Parts: sequence; C-alpha cells; structure tokens
Amino acid sequence: MDTPLVDRLGRPVEDLRVSVTDRCNLRCRYCMPREVFGPDHAFLPRDELLSFEEITRIVRVAVDLGVTKIRLTGGEPLLRKDLPELVAQLAAVDGLDDLALTTNGLLLRDHAGALADAGLDRVTVSLDALDETTFRAVADTRASVLGVLDGIEAARAAGLGPIKVNTVLRRGVNDDQLEDLAGWARDADVTLRFIEFMDVGTTNGWVREGVVPAAEVVDRIGTRWPIEAVERDHPGEVAERYRYLDGAGEVGVVASVTRAFCRDCTRARLTAIGELYTCLFAASGNDLRSLLRDGADDAGLRDRVVAIWSARTDRASELRAEEGLTGPRVEMSYIGG
Ligand code: GTP
Ligand code: 5AD
Ligand code: SF4
Ligand code: SF4
Repeated sequence: MDTPLVDRLGRPVEDLRVSVTDRCNLRCRYCMPREVFGPDHAFLPRDELLSFEEITRIVRVAVDLGVTKIRLTGGEPLLRKDLPELVAQLAAVDGLDDLALTTNGLLLRDHAGALADAGLDRVTVSLDALDETTFRAVADTRASVLGVLDGIEAARAAGLGPIKVNTVLRRGVNDDQLEDLAGWARDADVTLRFIEFMDVGTTNGWVREGVVPAAEVVDRIGTRWPIEAVERDHPGEVAERYRYLDGAGEVGVVASVTRAFCRDCTRARLTAIGELYTCLFAASGNDLRSLLRDGADDAGLRDRVVAIWSARTDRASELRAEEGLTGPRVEMSYIGG
C-alpha cells in the first residue's frame, strides 16, 4: 500500500463484509418477511454467485488497500456449500487480522469444528429471544431456540471465540426479552449487543416507533446490574460498549438509528454476486464480477476499487436523522448484515 486509500470524507476502508448467499433457513420478519421471501421468491442462481477463488481475489486486493477485517455473512452463510474451503483460502491471505462469521447459529453445531480447523477466528450469532414462542414468532420458524444455544456451545468448544450475540430489539415484539437475554449472556460468557431496528431495504415494515433506543436499553440493564461505559476499541467500531461492575463481562448497543456512526464508517460490503456496496442503505452496488470474468488483472481490479472508494460520500444513517430515508434500498439478506 502506498498512500492510504480514503473516501471523500477521509474514511479508510478497513472492514469488508462478504455475503456468500442470499438464502436463509429463517424468515425473520424484520429481514425476510415470508410474504416477500416465500416459495416464489427468485433467489440468486448458483452460477451467478462468485466462486471462492473470485471472492479470495477481491479480498486480496481489498487487504492490499487497507482492509484488515473480513466478516462472512448472508443470508445465512452456513447454507453456502463447502464454506470451510473459502475460510481456508481467506485465512491464507497475508495481512488479515480478523476473520469472522455472522450466523443465526442453527447449523453451527454441524459446522463449527470444520470452520475452526479451516482458520475462522470467531463467530457472531444472531438471537432475538430466549422464550421459544417469541423466538419462533420473530424468526417465523418451527426451529427451536435450543438449536441456536447448541450452536453457540459448539462454537465455543471449537475455540471460535470470544463469541458475540446480536439481538435486534423491537418495541412490543421482543423488548420484554431484554433482561432475560442480558442475564443469560452474563452467565454464558458471551458478549451481547442490542441492535436498533433499522429501515434496511423497503419490505421489513420499519416504523420509528418500533425502535427501542439504545439509551433506554442501557438504562434498563444498568438498573438491574450496575455498568460503566468502556472506550471503543477503535474508531470504526459500531457497538458502544459497557462493562458490568461485578466482573461479568461486557454488553453493547448498536445505536444505528438514534446515534448514527457514519462519520467513522470504514465498512465496505460485497454481495454474493460480486457487487461492491459502500453503504448498507445504498440503492445499488458496483459490479466487480464482470471485471473479473472479463479477464481483468489485479491492477485493473485494484484501480476499480480505488475509484469506487475514493468517490464515496455515504452517510445514510446521519441523513436519516436529519431528513429521513427515501427511495430504493437494497435488502439486508442480499447485502449481508
Ligand atoms: P465486531 O467486530 O464483533 O464488533 O462486529 P461488528 O462491529 O462488525 O458488528 P456486527 O457485524 O456484529 O454488526 C452488528 C450489527 O450492527 C449488524 O448486524 C448491523 O445490524 C449493524 N451494523 C453493522 N455495520 C453497520 C453499518 O455500517 N451501518 C449500520 N447502519 N449498521 C451497521
Ligand atoms: N435492523 C437491524 N438489524 C438487522 N439485522 C437484520 N435486519 C436488521 C434490521 N432491519 C441484523 C440481524 C443480524 C445481522 C446480520 O443483522 O439480526 O444480527
Ligand atoms: Fe436470516 Fe439473519 Fe435475515 Fe434472520 S436476520 S432472516 S437469520 S439473514
Ligand atoms: Fe456506514 Fe452507511 Fe451504515 Fe452510515 S449508514 S454507518 S455510511 S453503512
């Protein structure tokens, strides 16, 4: 890397989130509502997906431009066949500090060992309720929360830690789960982060009243167990962190709606078909797959990524706070959390 690559607002690119499939074995109502993602939904055909070699090439170029952290996402990334092979290829890329995976956890029991052996560093598991009825309603599934908890234990046993759990809270849907989840996470030695419900995509029925503000979450936890704020690890970190004063670890909040963090946003996203997005709320991405399949060399690929990132001005969450979001936006399951 010669001069560091920054966007128009001076932000470097440090974190690349790679979606490996747009499919999922759950239908969380805030992400893939069954009315939209039902049997007739056109998911991406397999030959459209980037191959593992293509993903690894793009990652290598991104790492050369400053990326140190890769997160594999979906949809549900464990539905992508032979995922450990991709993990092994990525783990061999020089210059990567952190190789993580975000999953709903249901398939972790079967795959945690192979992923760890292939070189995955850690996992983040999404879990929105401990209560079975609430879990099933939120995820629109017959699967059991016990499957997720088993997955978490399998990940821990395989050494995929420290383990984080993400909970999207929605008012009147699962906000009554807050204390139970926090209490469970304290005992289970996982770091729980409560995420504000976001208006990603245009089909998830987002309303501002559905958001449980991070300040309220922090208040409720602090009332039950005294906590104190911890400095962010690094400027681009999305979660605000708190430490339990009794030594039971940390809890976090991701205040993407009430305290937008675009100013420090160092994240790029690659979809399963090779489009590079510079914001979670963008209407469209930049096609890298054609470039690859048309035979571009690494220098050509690099020039394209430099041009895309150099032109970046995104700050959608800050704009939402100022004037609200309008217009078309990509769906979460397509771009990856
Ligand atoms: P760690 O490295 O483990 O801290 O993970 P992370 O900071 O990458 O967090 P994670 O991937 O678990 O993201 C947590 C959640 O924050 C995501 O699932 C999204 O809902 C939200 N989030 C992550 N990145 C962004 C972003 O760039 N913009 C917005 N608005 N929300 C984001
Ligand atoms: N708002 C906030 N978080 C969301 N996620 C999915 N959709 C939304 C939304 N609309 C979260 C998932 C998962 C991560 C990939 O993104 O719960 O933890
Ligand atoms: Fe699947 Fe995650 Fe979306 Fe739920 S939030 S439908 S688990 S991709
Ligand atoms: Fe980054 Fe866009 Fe999220 Fe802001 S809204 S933090 S620019 S991804």
